Amino acid sequence: MAKGKKIVFYCQNCGYESSKWMGQCPGCREWNSFVEETVSPQKSGSLNGARKEKQAPVSLSGIDMDKEERMLTHIGELDRVLGGGIVPGSLVLVGGDPGIGKSTLLLQVCRELSKDQRSVLYISGEESLRQIKMRAKRIGEFNENLKLLCETNLGTIKAVIEEMRPDVVMIDSIQTMYDEEISSAPGSVSQVRESTNVLMQLAKGLGVMIFIVGHVTKDGNVAGPRVLEHMVDTVLYFEGDRHASYRLLRGVKNRFGSTNEIGVFEMQDKGLEEVTNPSQVMLSGRPLDASGSVVVCSVEGTRPILIEIQALVTQTNFGLPRRTSVGIDYNRVNLLMAVLEKRAGLQLGNCDAYVNLAGGMKLGEPAIDLGIVLSIVSSYKNRAVDPNTLIFGEVGLSGEVRGVSMAEQRVKEAEKMGFTTCILPQTNLEALKGKFKIHLAGVSNIRESMNYV
Ligand code: TYD
Ligand code: MG
Repeated sequence: MAKGKKIVFYCQNCGYESSKWMGQCPGCREWNSFVEETVSPQKSGSLNGARKEKQAPVSLSGIDMDKEERMLTHIGELDRVLGGGIVPGSLVLVGGDPGIGKSTLLLQVCRELSKDQRSVLYISGEESLRQIKMRAKRIGEFNENLKLLCETNLGTIKAVIEEMRPDVVMIDSIQTMYDEEISSAPGSVSQVRESTNVLMQLAKGLGVMIFIVGHVTKDGNVAGPRVLEHMVDTVLYFEGDRHASYRLLRGVKNRFGSTNEIGVFEMQDKGLEEVTNPSQVMLSGRPLDASGSVVVCSVEGTRPILIEIQALVTQTNFGLPRRTSVGIDYNRVNLLMAVLEKRAGLQLGNCDAYVNLAGGMKLGEPAIDLGIVLSIVSSYKNRAVDPNTLIFGEVGLSGEVRGVSMAEQRVKEAEKMGFTTCILPQTNLEALKGKFKIHLAGVSNIRESMNYV
């Protein structure tokens, strides 16, 4: 081995570095994710070497803000998740499972931006020019402002970007890019990190916006996008069931906006279509008058979304009771079942319980607690909740129903979607009285709320 090189082991999931191999990563608890890589220590110096001239410290008022104008992609759902458009010189990571629609989304962004007279460069290391053209044909007409390049060598890419000076660059995907100076294979942690560093310097130095695609990988040989989350400005994850057509774009990190916004898309034969009324989508096909099914309201970023929660509670036939939850934190479901058992006297100890969030969504907001509780009660008693009822409220350990934020927006959304009753925390009721036509039923503990089942 050349002098100065050393061998390190990287977790391909989170990038944890170790001098020896380990079975389980202490960082992310993933098993079997460590892979040996050779790194040359001189390379890391190149990061700081980029800017040689001395910089004097400045005060905030001395910084010129004019250049921070955002560029709109004209895809409303994406602009909102980005916090109102793309910031010049920013590096955006779009992560997601293979085949979820990342390339499609970026190509649509290219189309919108090039219509806006921006010069866009789409660099693909995964598909040939013909394959990209085939995809582009499905999406629609493109003009001359979009240029394509099939390349994986980062040195070449850097030279092209420096010469062409486009406004926006798409890199599809970071796991196919490689830097010649690094000996490990494309997709390894050190390659992915170094490639991102080079791109970051390009973005900050030239003021170009760069979108990076990162595949979420299940096998340990390719580094996942989590490895570079801390290096980029914005991290968006594209989620959804590959077999269903709805896709959620979720902001996980955003240096220029809020992170809890989501964008909803539907994959159609002409590319991704925006879904502007997600509540309607989430509630379509909901069974009416079925026990265990209730509708809750969760606020994602600034938008209230109505979603159906389903619970199935059955007698345990043998052994330990089984509990599963899909889309909701499993421990939260267990906790709420314990509260129901202790504070409302339900005999759930010998029951299996399955709780499911419809539409492939994942929610973590405490405001859906009361909905989970009532869906379990409804299935346990085998009595339906009125299908035109919306439920929200946080449940505490003593069975009390606590107030939640943004109650007014939630009730407004329920009224818009044609609901006639809203079960909500008593503490939220006072501020809302007289403002709505919908019947507001305030409850202060779970026993009171159970009257509506
Ligand atoms: P793609 O963007 O290639 O996914 P990724 O880059 O995240 O791996 O999307 C691939 C899927 O999308 C593929 O299964 C086909 C489907 N698709 C459509 O349904 N309609 C379309 O118009 C396009 C372009 C793709
Ligand atoms: Mg792709």
